[in-house]
Amino acid sequence: MKIYKAHILYTKEKDCFEVVENGYIAVDDGRVVGVGDSLSSLGCEGSEVTDFGDCMLIPAMNDLHVHAPQYRNQGIAMDLELLPWLENYTFPEEMKYADMGYAERMYRRFVRDLWRFGTMRSCVFATIHTESTRLLMQLFREAGMGALVGKVAMNRNCPDGLSETVEEAVKGNEALIAEFCETDALVRPIVTPRFVPSCTPEMLEACGVLASKYQLPVQSHLSENLSEIALVKELEPESTCYGDVYNRYGLFGQMPTVMAHCIWSQGEELELMKRNGVMVAHCPTSNLNIGSGMAPIRQFLDEGLRVGLGSDISGGHDLNIFRIMVFATQVSKMHYQQYHKAFLTLSEVFWLATKSAGSFFGRVGSFEPGYEFDALVIDDHDLNHSDYSLLHRLERFIYLGDDRHIVHRFCRGREIAEPRV
Ligand code: GUN
Ligand code: FE
Repeated sequence: MKIYKAHILYTKEKDCFEVVENGYIAVDDGRVVGVGDSLSSLGCEGSEVTDFGDCMLIPAMNDLHVHAPQYRNQGIAMDLELLPWLENYTFPEEMKYADMGYAERMYRRFVRDLWRFGTMRSCVFATIHTESTRLLMQLFREAGMGALVGKVAMNRNCPDGLSETVEEAVKGNEALIAEFCETDALVRPIVTPRFVPSCTPEMLEACGVLASKYQLPVQSHLSENLSEIALVKELEPESTCYGDVYNRYGLFGQMPTVMAHCIWSQGEELELMKRNGVMVAHCPTSNLNIGSGMAPIRQFLDEGLRVGLGSDISGGHDLNIFRIMVFATQVSKMHYQQYHKAFLTLSEVFWLATKSAGSFFGRVGSFEPGYEFDALVIDDHDLNHSDYSLLHRLERFIYLGDDRHIVHRFCRGREIAEPRV
């Protein structure tokens, strides 16, 4: 049993923070046993305590949608919309991941940067390349950080160097599944058809079979951009909506599924998502940078859809999920000007990034008993120059802080050291 002392802040529900000033948290076997305001309230009198003094202790961040092989393009190439952006900037970069030397250099930096910003779990797109995808999974495993990593399936509307046959896709996936097969391992494969325009019906069918045969989660993109949606209609005229294409192949909630963007999802598509428990990865920076639009997150929450936040590097430019919370709030305020739906609150965006997104990885993202202890210790003394309340201290860290304020990181109870680049 381990006991930590700090100011403890987390969200059980989206509408309010739980705040325990000078609180104690007991952790056993990687899971939270309880949170209290004294050792006796936890039944732990006399136990040894690790005291983080005036620091804040919060759940670690979860990134529900990020492209590791777009790391080099972070912060550049923002002048095109989705389809030409993919063709001109993204596909040429991803082709480089056939080269293991290049992949190792970039992937090491990528994992280190996730660590810097306190992201302990992520849903990651790699590329079609099995070898470099395996390397990325090994790097996460060495680091001790949680990740669902997808070898990306694609076989149409893409350059030759980024296309493979259905047989190659299945074989590569099965090799990774055999190596990373432990069901409660921190690093696991996720079935990853890139998006409908990149996958023939045969490829989508094979992906659905992989997900069901090996009981694996699924990730892809959905209703991000109007030209993309028009292209899907042209390619799959029999489908009643974009989401219906995935649904027909068992890739829409038959196994736990996260779909990035969903900006333009409506009607039947939203109903299907609700019914099947499909989770939305909201990526506000990406949606701004590649001009995709504003996702109606307030509506999604009101309707009971599951939502989390994603950085979507390199459509998004920022890997720091705290900064994504700020963008999600600001975009919701632009949306409010137009549609008069209430904008997102601080507790809501914090909950989206922690407990809500964390639910895709198991019992992750809260400090309720039984939750895995994924946590960050925040030393904000330079920001707290004027006796701010604990909630204002957290808000200032979210808006003004950066990785230098994160002084300890825990994933499943273990303290995570800086990964070697
Ligand atoms: N749709 C298909 N591929 C991608 C990608 O790499 N990034 C984004 N933002 N959307 C996509
Ligand atoms: Fe994406």
